Amino acid sequence: MTYIIKTIEWQGDEVVMIDQRILPLQEEYIHHTTWQEVGDSIKTMVIRGAPAIGVATAMGMSLAAMQSQAATQEELKRDLDEAARGLFATRPTAYNLGWALEQMAGIYNEPGDVDEIRARMKDRSQEILDEDVAMCIAMGEHAAPLFPQGARILTHCNAGALATAGYGTALGVIRSVFRRDPSIHVFADETRPFLQGARLTAWELQQEGIPCSLITDNMSGYFFKEGEIDAVVVGSDRIAGNGDVANKIGTYTVSVLAKEHGVPFYVAAPTSTVDLSLADGSQIPIEERDPKEVTHCGSRQIAPTGIGVRNPAFDVTPHANVTAIITEMGVHREPYSESLAEAKKGK
Ligand code: MRU
Repeated sequence: MTYIIKTIEWQGDEVVMIDQRILPLQEEYIHHTTWQEVGDSIKTMVIRGAPAIGVATAMGMSLAAMQSQAATQEELKRDLDEAARGLFATRPTAYNLGWALEQMAGIYNEPGDVDEIRARMKDRSQEILDEDVAMCIAMGEHAAPLFPQGARILTHCNAGALATAGYGTALGVIRSVFRRDPSIHVFADETRPFLQGARLTAWELQQEGIPCSLITDNMSGYFFKEGEIDAVVVGSDRIAGNGDVANKIGTYTVSVLAKEHGVPFYVAAPTSTVDLSLADGSQIPIEERDPKEVTHCGSRQIAPTGIGVRNPAFDVTPHANVTAIITEMGVHREPYSESLAEAKKGK
């Protein structure tokens, strides 16, 4: 298995995560022994990125099963349902979170011995991690031929190894393109307000020697207009049945620029991000985060005390702006209501 960076892993019965809040200046790992600690780490962005949140959720549920003193399946189910509610409330937009809870519920709702259920849940959480890496590698293989020689590729936020179990969706695609063609160049948006692009994407690209220019979010229009961007690739937190894509705030703006300049706009995400229960993107819940992320840069205040703030963490790109969606099943195009349903069915 190709692990570029170990975002999250089991060490014995502890869940260990790299602390993404302090990268790239410090590399520290946090150990978790309870589902409440895992929930806290998801909420406070120790771990972030939809697929990584899914893995953390599965592992958190497994910790909940270990924490529970239940002797009967009914008692275990009661404790696990409570943990599931707590984890579900941490971050509303990432569909992989609810998907991981369903995977775990599928195990503890099946009749069985409580210790066997505990063991199966831990095994399944490790499988979800391994499957995630394999899916990201498959996405890279499907997508690489879409990019021209020497492509200059813009990405937004961090959809890399850190946002997944260890390879990346959008950044996994870029990794696969780079392995075939080292002459590519990546433009990484800094991604205000949490700076996932500046702190995490820039760090990942630098570690692997992938040529990169870090730009502030408001510079991308300039580079599109100058003809310096050949393709865009981003990840996603949730994709509705019609192909509308929720991703980090600012993605929609990039998609409009790409359309205006005739540049292909690709989305890379596993089928576990595709939510067929939602007809379109207007139904995707959008998380609003702490105003302090906007009024401050790190710990430094940059805006007047008491100013009104809005801080939606995600936006929705309409499917009409999306050239193709790449999942582990292949490259999907319009009509997405058919191609995405087909991809989910093929799983
Ligand atoms: O708020 P975050 O950092 O969790 O947002 C992450 C993103 O928007 C990513 O682009 C998305 O989750 C895809 S990650 C493979």
